[in-house]
Formats: sequence, structure tokens, C-alpha cells
Amino acid sequence: MEKIRSETWAHLRANLTKDITSPQTIATFLPQVTAISNDLCALIKHFRQNDNKIGQLELLTRRLGLEVMCTLVLGRRMGFLLPEGETDIARRLRIAVHHHFLSCRDTYYGLPLWKLFHTPSYSHLIDSEEDIYNLALELVANADEATKETAIVDFIASGIHTLGNTLVFLLSLISKRKDVQEEIANNENSEYVKACIKETFRLLPTAFCLARVLEKDLELSGHLVKAGNVVVCQTGLACRDPENFSRPDEFLPERWLGEEKSKTLSSSTFLLLPFGCGKRQCPGRRFIEQSLPVILKELVQNFIISYDKKDVDISFEFIMAPVSPVQMSFEDRS
Ligand code: HEM
Repeated sequence: MEKIRSETWAHLRANLTKDITSPQTIATFLPQVTAISNDLCALIKHFRQNDNKIGQLELLTRRLGLEVMCTLVLGRRMGFLLPEGETDIARRLRIAVHHHFLSCRDTYYGLPLWKLFHTPSYSHLIDSEEDIYNLALELVANADEATKETAIVDFIASGIHTLGNTLVFLLSLISKRKDVQEEIANNENSEYVKACIKETFRLLPTAFCLARVLEKDLELSGHLVKAGNVVVCQTGLACRDPENFSRPDEFLPERWLGEEKSKTLSSSTFLLLPFGCGKRQCPGRRFIEQSLPVILKELVQNFIISYDKKDVDISFEFIMAPVSPVQMSFEDRS
């Protein structure tokens, strides 16, 4: 049964993701990412108060996530970043995706009573999945048949919160470092921006751990773990361990650059895995790795970003999420 499931998954994965995640598709899409990032900057200017503060940054970054994913998957701009406000469908989709993550957390990590009867979290899981499916179908009503064959629903839902939350974490860390912002704004070398993103994934990973159902028995530190059990690999904890990284709690993009880089890399293989690894690795990885630097650079070239709180509060919602509301200041960079 497990084998059939894996084969079905492998077939779907190979056929559904290759068009959308190919280097050609992503390369042609990058100018759109710049345009979408400009719209986010305009929206921030529209919504910020007199003290330059945005009251709920996470709502704007999730709207960005939705706009980016829909544009990639459906091939047309949806207008989710227009200042008129969030459309009804965008709001319902964002909420359904949020409920879905919460019910995944509760069914996955809570007591598995849902295997015996329909618990509230199981019902939420089913309902939110159905909502996401119906709302995504409403969105794709005008898409052509070829587009509909792709993994539309999964892709749109997977991108909204992962991208949105990652961007909030990234901005919260660079908000404390005006020198880093200067460097991003003025440095043409994209390696620096990539180093900031890597360092964010190390300190505030959106996916804190990786999970696998064992296909074969496995011996771990002298303990035999039987096939069929779930093994959770705590990469997030490993990334904060001083045995693996020096000054582990500090935001130091420099550790991924120049001479420091080889030292960091020799100790970090298989520790920093923000998109997982192996055949189940995130199909959105390449897309995010190329889009996020564009979005970050646009924001930092437009604004000096600051944040009053020491750290962003985080809650576990299957993925890691900033606790709402996140208030940050966006002052024009002239
Ligand atoms: C910052 C953004 C993102 C992060 C941090 C992230 C992270 C992850 C991680 C850790 C996994 C599990 C990998 C594993 O178990 O080895 C995963 C799976 C997945 N991701 Fe992402 N992801 C992001 C964005 C996206 C985007 C934009 C898409 C859509 C194109 C996407 C689609 C998926 C899908 C469909 C899976 C399930 C893959 C499978 O099991 O075959 N993700 N992601």
C-alpha cells in the first residue's frame, strides 16, 4: 500500500511540478516579481501611518504571497496588492490556508484520536481543504485547460504563508541592522542578499523540522526505529547549536561569505535545510531562492525598515508564523 502511495506521489510530483519550477519559467517570471514587489512598496506607502508604521505587516506579505503564486501559476496578475483592499476571495483563501495549517499541526502532532472518530481538528482539516480547493477553482475559472492540469491548488496554497511568513522574519532581522540594509540597497553583488536570506532561514526557519515516515527499519544512536514510524529531524534546533555554528544566536550574514563561508559550509551540510532534501524536497525552492532576493532588494531600496520590538514573537502553526500583529516602520529612503 505504502509502495503504491509512493509511486502515485512520484508520478504526480514529476508531472505536475516540472513546468512551473523549470529554470526557464522562473527566469521569464522574474520581471513580474519586480513589478509585484513595486506594488507591495506602493501598498506600504498607501497604508503606513504618520509615524511610517504598518499595523499588520503579515497581512500585506501574505497578500504578496498570493499575488506571486497566482501570477506564476495562472500567468496573469490578480490585483491582490491593489490599495482598494483585499478582495473577498483573497481574504477567504488566506483564512482557509491559515486554518489548514493549524489543523495540520493539530492532527499531525496532537493525539491521533481523529483515527477513531471525527475530532474538531479533523473536521477543520477537511473543511479547510475543501474551501481551498473551491476558492482556488474560482480563481482559475478563466485559466486554460493546460494550466488546470498543473498542481494549481497545492501551489497557490503552499506559497501564500510560506513566502509571507519568511518575508516577515527576514525584515524583522534586517530591521535591527541598518548597516545590512545599506549593504543590500547599494551592493550590486547578489551574494550578500542571498547570505542574508540564508542567515534568516538559519535563525528563524519557516519550516522548523523535517518529517519522514520510515520505509525501512533504521538504527539511530543505537536505538532501533521500526519502519512505518515517523521520524522528525529538528534542523531548527541544530542550527542554533554552538557546536554547529559560532555565535549561533546572532544574525551574521557574513558567515556565508568570503573566507568565513568555507568554515560555515564545512559544519553546516545537512543542517540548514529550509526546503528539505531528497526526493520530497520543496518544489518551490528554486523559485523562492530567485524571487526572494528581488523582493527584499526592492523593499530595502525603497525604505529604511525598523522595528521597536526586540524579536518577533513566533507561534508554531505547522509552519512557523509571526504572532499577529507585526508592526514595523517603513521610512522612505531618499
Ligand atoms: C519560503 C518559502 C518556502 C519554504 C521555506 C518551503 C519549505 C518546504 C519544506 C521544508 C518542505 C518539506 C520538504 C521535505 O520534507 O524534504 C516543503 C514541501 C513542499 N513545498 Fe515548500 N516551501 C516554500 C515555498 C513553497 C512554494 C512557493 C511552493 C509552490 C510552488 C511550495 C510547494 C511545496 C509542495 C507542493 C511541497 C510538498 C512536496 C512533496 O511532498 O512532494 N513551497 N516546502
